[in-house]
Amino acid sequence: MQVPQWVIETKRDGGTLSKDEISDFIHGYHQGQIPDYQMAALAMAIYLKGMTFEETAFLTQAMMDTGQCLDTSTLTRPVCDKHSTGGIGDKVSLILAPLAAACGLDVPMISGRGLGITGGTLDKLETIPGFRTDLNEEELIDVVRSVHACIVGQTERLAPADKKLYALRDVTATVPSIPLITASIMCKKMSEGLDSLVLDVKVGRGAFMESMERARDLAMSMVRVGKEMGTHVTALLTRMDEPLGRTVGNAVEVQESIRMLQGDAEGPLWEVTRELTALMLASTPLQPDVESARNAVQEALESGAGFMCMKAMLKAQGANPDICENLDRLPAASQTMAFSADASGTVTDVDANAIGRAVLVLGGGRMKAEDAIHPGVGITDLIRSGEQIEKGAPLFTLHHEGGERLAKALELLQDAIQISPEPFTAPDILLETITS
Ligand code: URA
Repeated sequence: MQVPQWVIETKRDGGTLSKDEISDFIHGYHQGQIPDYQMAALAMAIYLKGMTFEETAFLTQAMMDTGQCLDTSTLTRPVCDKHSTGGIGDKVSLILAPLAAACGLDVPMISGRGLGITGGTLDKLETIPGFRTDLNEEELIDVVRSVHACIVGQTERLAPADKKLYALRDVTATVPSIPLITASIMCKKMSEGLDSLVLDVKVGRGAFMESMERARDLAMSMVRVGKEMGTHVTALLTRMDEPLGRTVGNAVEVQESIRMLQGDAEGPLWEVTRELTALMLASTPLQPDVESARNAVQEALESGAGFMCMKAMLKAQGANPDICENLDRLPAASQTMAFSADASGTVTDVDANAIGRAVLVLGGGRMKAEDAIHPGVGITDLIRSGEQIEKGAPLFTLHHEGGERLAKALELLQDAIQISPEPFTAPDILLETITS
């Protein structure tokens, strides 16, 4: 066992830590021998001085080694997953998992809950009556073996040190550190026994990483760590200045996802979903390149194969798949209100941050992990930049419960959408692909 304060001292002074120093420290912390204050001091030293890729890979491995890996040995197809760094209206996982399954992959997807302004896949799926996200690891693998896609929450056995360390980072101002974020995300994903992983690294004011440089650094860090650990990782940088798709909320995003799988696929949400699914597919022996993988994904959508996989996944996880034909049975808010344009012109901006905060105050998100959410509130029929609007026409519809929450949301939304008399073309949503 290394002396913890010497390890902290080395990093504080900008030195490089060895594999054993990192491993002993993380195991000591996980087992309660190293107290929170020493772990917090090391996290702050890492935040300030950074880590080499090699150190970051050692940290990832040490955190993985505090738990067990998912046993995917009984799965016969390429095993893949996708992770998003989080955005507003980001419902890609709900569409991608069944589509990837329809294209021949096995997708044991482990997802998270929404925190702050970014939504969470589990909160969205749990709006579907009966849908279980709390399957254990054996149940997860059974579902994947039979229907090839399954979306569940984090289990206690996969990289448990991350949960403890993340909670500590959250209260010690050490979350936005590239090596710490890399290790936190990758220790969980590498524990899933994957052949390949795709990362959606969001860039913009509705994302964790606001600048292209930081997003690129994070993407490269995760791709390199994945490579060191023997997993093919591809990162797609995507623009997150405005919400993805026409809805923001929980049940409303499930509705939009199911409609997309039924064939209503267009715009940036489809572009991002198709590209991520294609990158996943092209990283396996099933497709020779990204172009043919894109065609396969389009075919899985148009043939209805992705939709059938969605229904099979819903059934396997406890929900009645007939909900897909009865989307009005999903939870709903008691009131709706259209928000109208005060001028005619072209939409030049839809502020993801303002919209994310408005949905949060309506009750669609949580400030603390233990907060409850309202499954039915949110925004639908959202206009996007580049589209024309007439004065008085709706920019979006709010689904709400009235009262102070509505008043606060309306205040946040007041300047969220900009309209110009000049023509405007929306910038591309797909920014850059980084792969090993
Ligand atoms: N998501 C994670 O899982 N960990 C981080 O550190 C940041 C985002």
